Amino acid sequence: MTTGPILKIGKVKLANPLIMAPLAGITDLPFRLIVKNAGCGLVCSEMISANGLLHQSAKTFRMLNSDEAEKPLSIQIFGADPAIMADAARIVADAGADILDINFGCSVRKVVKTGSGAALMRTPDRAKAILAAVREAISIPLTIKIRSGWDRSGDQAIAIARMAEESGVDAIAVHPRTATQGFGGRADWPLIGRIKQTVRIPVVGNGDIERPDDVIEMFRQTACDGVMIGRTAIGHPWIFSQALQALAGRMPKQVDLQDRQRIMIQYLDASIAYYGETVACRMMRSRLGRFVKGLPHNARFRETIKRIRTRSEALPLIDRYFSESGMTAID
Ligand SMILES: Cc1cc2nc3c(=O)[nH]c(=O)nc-3n(C[C@H](O)[C@H](O)[C@H](O)COP(=O)(O)O)c2cc1C
Repeated sequence: MTTGPILKIGKVKLANPLIMAPLAGITDLPFRLIVKNAGCGLVCSEMISANGLLHQSAKTFRMLNSDEAEKPLSIQIFGADPAIMADAARIVADAGADILDINFGCSVRKVVKTGSGAALMRTPDRAKAILAAVREAISIPLTIKIRSGWDRSGDQAIAIARMAEESGVDAIAVHPRTATQGFGGRADWPLIGRIKQTVRIPVVGNGDIERPDDVIEMFRQTACDGVMIGRTAIGHPWIFSQALQALAGRMPKQVDLQDRQRIMIQYLDASIAYYGETVACRMMRSRLGRFVKGLPHNARFRETIKRIRTRSEALPLIDRYFSESGMTAID
């Protein structure tokens, strides 16, 4: 089956060029197993603080946990100090990551004010020092994930992409919104195409993939080497299998209600196995609600699922929602 362009990041060859975007608070190990199962070619951790790793924070270290079934795994770190980033990169490589990614895009104030994330896009000297130190520290593939920069021109993104290539970075993911734009407006896909024409290393496009056909469009419009999907996958992990079918020239298969229900329970169970029942159920209150977005009577489901404390409370709610809502196939 043809599944789009072959994507190789350094020595890591992906099964397909569809990548799960790093999402803080979402892309933990249980979620990654779900998208991997749905056919995603590469999963990525949530962003992990380089300082947290150096200070041996137990909570931060836990984020390095991985499972053979999700491989290959990219782990993303953020930070602003070259020496600390290099040490953190070593820890990540020793933990078994296949790829190390550096966050150049997070524009949350708390991160930017420390000089990390999107702040690096306007401090190229610091960015260069970080990339040099990290490249020297590890032999696994190194990638960066950037935004457009601090203005709409995209000039900072082009400059950072060039510099990254010269620094030995193996691939670049581009979310073409400015640092101040948050998630408003539309992603500037033509900038992905401009970056693709600027560098020879693989360029991964990201932003506003909502349907399987959007993946085909992004490849077509930008000539990018891979496509990264974020928010849509949160409640629709099957976007990956559907996009793979579209890339193979087939009609994406509808996800029926049984599949949807089965995946929600799988996700709940994977979370319970990882975090324990109490913590997992608290986390799953909002996460399960995302799976019924756009479906009839979903507000009522979201309201009741918000109170689950145990698996045995959750299962009948899920079951009742799907059996009583009178729905047939969706998607
Ligand atoms: C809840 C949430 C958390 C995110 N966390 C991260 C992160 O940890 N690291 C990162 O590089 N980008 C992060 N992003 C940005 C996404 O990776 C992605 O670039 C963005 O959502 C655009 O892609 P999409 O339109 O497919 O969602 C986050 C976005 C959201 C909505």
